[in-house]
Amino acid sequence: MRYITIALAKGRLAKQTMEILKKLGIICPEMEDKDSRKLIFTNEELGFRFFLAKANDVPTYVEYGAADIGIVGKDTIVEEARSLYEVLDLNLGKCRMCVAGPESARALLDSSLPLRVATKYPKIAKDYFYNVRHQSVEIIKLNGSIELAPIVGLAEVIVDIVETGSTLRENGLKVLEEFMPLSARMVVNRVSLKMEQERIRKLIADMREVIEQKDA
Ligand code: PRP
Repeated sequence: MRYITIALAKGRLAKQTMEILKKLGIICPEMEDKDSRKLIFTNEELGFRFFLAKANDVPTYVEYGAADIGIVGKDTIVEEARSLYEVLDLNLGKCRMCVAGPESARALLDSSLPLRVATKYPKIAKDYFYNVRHQSVEIIKLNGSIELAPIVGLAEVIVDIVETGSTLRENGLKVLEEFMPLSARMVVNRVSLKMEQERIRKLIADMREVIEQKDA
């Protein structure tokens, strides 16, 4: 039997996904060893192989077929814009994409004055400001701790994900606009979905059942 390879965005999402799979009897005890630096795990009996990757790389592995399936946030899927099938909402890691900044930036946002936008998501930010708000802005790409940008004067506002809102609050910033609801999704390689249709469809249906029970 050919392995079905699943790429997981490492971190909390990978753990929560493995919990769903555990309920289906798809387990990988090796993966639970916290001291291990191993990146790839197999369940020989059921023919599954899992690996942990940086979230941004998950869509790449799946597009090229190095993984049949990927589990990753909608934010990353939209930003990476790879050619994939999105087949399931895991209802995990729910958050939203927002424009945020100090209250004083609200007026600036609605003016035609120059605006700098710091973000880890340049494509999403550009699309929102150019195509939805029809506003020409300067996008500044950062790789983390985005909330720093308006505080130290690198940008007036940020585009970032907000979950509990505590990072913004603790840094004196506010959500100014909310524009994209987000959660973790399952994506599938186009060829794999045809070649392994039966096994993948069954996995999707079984996972959907666990997710619905959990959310009921
Ligand atoms: C994300 C995001 C915010 C924060 C939002 O950062 O970029 O900073 O979480 O969560 P909250 O609304 O619950 O406070 P992450 O922790 O991924 O780290 P990063 O700053 O390195 O990107």
